[in-house]
Amino acid sequence: MTDPMHSCDPTRAEHEKVRAFFERVAESYLDEIDDRPALDYEAAGSALKSFRIPLPEEGIGAEAALESLYRDGLAATGTSAGPRFYHWVVGGVTPAALGADWLTTLWDNPAFAWQGSPLAVELELLSLDWMKELFGLAPEMSGVMVTGASMANFVGMAAARQWWGQEQGVDISEDGWAGLPPMPVLTSGYVHASAVKVLSLLGVGRKQIRRHTRDAVGRVDLASMEEALKGLDGRPAVMMAVAGEVNAGDFDPVEEMADLAEKYGAWLHVDGAFGLFAAVSDRTAHLVRGVERADSVTVDGHKWLNVPYDSGYAFVKDREILARAFAYTARYLADPTDPRPVLGGLGPESSRRARALAVWATLRAYGRGGYRRMFEKHLDLAKRMAELVDEAPDLERLADPLLSVVCFRYNPGGLGEDVLNDLNTRLGEAVLEDGRFSVGVTEYGGRMALRPTLVNWRTEAADVEAFVEVVRGLANRLTPEGDLEGAT
Ligand SMILES: Cc1ncc(COP(=O)(O)O)c(C=O)c1O
Repeated sequence: MTDPMHSCDPTRAEHEKVRAFFERVAESYLDEIDDRPALDYEAAGSALKSFRIPLPEEGIGAEAALESLYRDGLAATGTSAGPRFYHWVVGGVTPAALGADWLTTLWDNPAFAWQGSPLAVELELLSLDWMKELFGLAPEMSGVMVTGASMANFVGMAAARQWWGQEQGVDISEDGWAGLPPMPVLTSGYVHASAVKVLSLLGVGRKQIRRHTRDAVGRVDLASMEEALKGLDGRPAVMMAVAGEVNAGDFDPVEEMADLAEKYGAWLHVDGAFGLFAAVSDRTAHLVRGVERADSVTVDGHKWLNVPYDSGYAFVKDREILARAFAYTARYLADPTDPRPVLGGLGPESSRRARALAVWATLRAYGRGGYRRMFEKHLDLAKRMAELVDEAPDLERLADPLLSVVCFRYNPGGLGEDVLNDLNTRLGEAVLEDGRFSVGVTEYGGRMALRPTLVNWRTEAADVEAFVEVVRGLANRLTPEGDLEGAT
């Protein structure tokens, strides 16, 4: 790659140009991020066309490639790190996390084990300890960093499956589970789609998930769950509680489910991808009471912690079970007699990004107090949005925002449910097409609704107020029969 005949091969001299390029674009992007549209789909469509060329035989060099990427690519990016992106549950990036993520790439250390990066291993263990404190988890829990809450659910459920096998005298990681009965997984209607996928990947099967619900929204029916546990006659089961569901931010009763798990000897997993942040404020800590009794816990970083994608954390109480489920050895990888931790043996990945650097930096920079203040700001912003919805005669709130998901719909009155569902589905599309904000549509107890979720540290009251105004403006141009009135 250093053949002087090929001027576009990587050279050390390119670094200077890349650094200057980066300084310039980072500055201009960060200057405008608060005012950028969430996503301009039309501009994105045209921008992407310029990328569709065949694989070049010879390149254009780093500087030209980066110029092209920024110049042609920016229009096709979502401003998901900005203050107006309320789709899914999308956090931003704190300045400290952004800087640390740049260092992560600069150093490019594999966080597999000490031999690749003592710093990455140490900071992962330390940051996980700090997060146990932040979220009120049991101090004896072991943790591992993964790509997000889906993989954290994978880790939790793989550990649960290992435990479930061992309870029946089978080491599933060694012997497989042929001959064992189906593994019962008891949960509520709040179970997240990623957990369902994970259970299918682990061979448990989507159909083994038993949703004990008492209403159309999916709230848990504890009595029916207890009946099911009783019916197992002492056979082991796995329970899953959701702390912060995606439609309205509601919680399963973690404490009561922990009581049931204890009474019937079940494994309790808590999926608190974003809802676990309730623990950081006295205003909401009651919502996650009992989480310290869980056997495994999921939490996300790229949501409320506001670290860059991709970053999630799995905690498992029994380290032995976790280590068995993810046991991974080869002599070339690590010396088995070396007592230093091999993080690649506690989770699904071998080569792993040093995600801990951004986590450590943001917790070091802002501390528990900074996170509490950011979280409480989001609670207040959600309240403000709920007030604006309540004041608007053509909007209807469908749930109290316990955290910062505000579930509401357009309802000008006098229309049937089918018409309203269709209108609200189209309203969601209209908001996305408009591009100033991003928001998702969901089905809440059979009713189609918008579910803006506020977890970005940059979001302020003015953004929330503008959002409600944009939604009402677009909603009032929708007709029951057709598209936007006056749309071109
Ligand atoms: C409760 C819950 N669990 C799991 C996930 C999946 O998270 P990720 O996209 O980080 O894998 C989400 C995402 O919104 C979630 O809200």
